[in-house]
Amino acid sequence: MRRSRLIELSQEYKIMIIDDEQGILDSIQALLNRNGYWCIGFTDPLAGLEELRRNHYDFLILDYYMQPIHGEAVVEQIRKTNSELYILLLTGYKDLAPPISTIKSLDIQAYCEKSDRLDQLQLLIESGIKSISQMRTIQQFRDGLQSILGSVPKIYQLQPIGSILEEILIQLLPMANSSDAFILVDDIPGIERLGQNTKKSIFKGIGKYNVQIEEFTELLDHELMEAIGRARTEVRVINLPGGVIIPLGDEPNTAIGVIYVSSIDVDEGIKLLQIYARQAAASISNAFLHCLVNTKNEELNSTYAQLKVRYMDTIEVLRLAVDAKDEYTRGHSDRVSYYSTRIGEKLGHSPEECERLRIAGVFHDIGKIGTADDILLKKQTLSKDEYEQIKQHPIKGAMILSAVSMFQDVVPIVRHHHEHVDGNGYPDGIKGDQIELNARIIAVADAFDAMINDRHYRKHLSLEKTIEQLVSGSGKQFDADVVAALLDLLKNDAELQERIKDIEDKQNNN
Ligand SMILES: [Fe+2]
Repeated sequence: MRRSRLIELSQEYKIMIIDDEQGILDSIQALLNRNGYWCIGFTDPLAGLEELRRNHYDFLILDYYMQPIHGEAVVEQIRKTNSELYILLLTGYKDLAPPISTIKSLDIQAYCEKSDRLDQLQLLIESGIKSISQMRTIQQFRDGLQSILGSVPKIYQLQPIGSILEEILIQLLPMANSSDAFILVDDIPGIERLGQNTKKSIFKGIGKYNVQIEEFTELLDHELMEAIGRARTEVRVINLPGGVIIPLGDEPNTAIGVIYVSSIDVDEGIKLLQIYARQAAASISNAFLHCLVNTKNEELNSTYAQLKVRYMDTIEVLRLAVDAKDEYTRGHSDRVSYYSTRIGEKLGHSPEECERLRIAGVFHDIGKIGTADDILLKKQTLSKDEYEQIKQHPIKGAMILSAVSMFQDVVPIVRHHHEHVDGNGYPDGIKGDQIELNARIIAVADAFDAMINDRHYRKHLSLEKTIEQLVSGSGKQFDADVVAALLDLLKNDAELQERIKDIEDKQNNN
């Protein structure tokens, strides 16, 4: 350690001397004062002990042979409550020295034979002060690392980037024993702001640097600017007369920015600041990554939304094509969609489930696009083959919708809207709960709408007759609860009654 630094350090330590010989006490005190140390002396060991109990001391130079108590007894007293105090024991001549086992057991760090020459004592004092200084650094490190461990998770959780930078500085100041600092980092790589390609910097300051970036540049002199550039390109710490620049390196040989902290007291703590800066850089990179992912996600979501609209348009065109094939079934899909949704609400469906039902209702017969017009529009009874072809439409519809990921959840509903709860439906012949409830709902709504409207092969049924048919099929073709829900709506729901009345009027006028 440099001599000047030692003198600087010497003022930071409190040294006590206890020796019952006034002459020796005076000469040690003179030695310490000459070397710039602060010290206090006691000839009475009991008075010294009392002072040690009251105030903090770093270093004790203690005589071994004393009255009324020995140095050994003094150390025993001290060690009961204080294990930190550095003790240097002054012994008599060799044959009067305490055994080494005593020195060890009392945790005495050093001992020295009394002599007229004080060189050896001076060396031991300097070495003791160095030890205390190193212990302090270790302690500061331990506290600093504890503080980093505590602050890093907090920094990681913060958003947006401005808050992260501010928190990094707030946590840094006590470590550097400072109140002024700033952080300068490159803007998020990979994001072009407002179409600008130029690399921009993000700035955050605290204390006297708590200013906008425009005013900040006025606070910089060219030496500091040049040093910042050097710290970045060489990825190394740069000490300046008024502070220190620490590169924010998240991996070897790259720096995403720098931290500057005004401080004259970072000599020992610089390693700690470097550790902290690495953590800070990692948290900034992490935040940038999140930001980048969010931006890309937003772009993806927007593309997906556009895609969805286009698919909906395409499917809608297909659906209209199906409806247009047959003037009798025109509007059928929309009506099935409406009845199904109302039944779903009645059965306690969530809004999301009702939406599935609405979409499934709209597209339930989309598979008919693949059925020949002469079969669909045939007025006479269908042949077995023709009927088999018609029975393919739930499968074809499910396949058309399967091609589009956003319709995946309505595929099973469309496939099974002609299944019967007794297992006599098509295309899979499944029964009861094997058929998804929404498919059972569509089945009832579909049959209901088909019966109360004219078809090209028959006239419509009256509402009473339709209800009779539903009731007779309940528990066989139709799900009993679904039928009950529809009947309840027909009986009590004014809006539905209004719609049915309009349909009846229209059919009767045809
Ligand atoms: Fe159908």
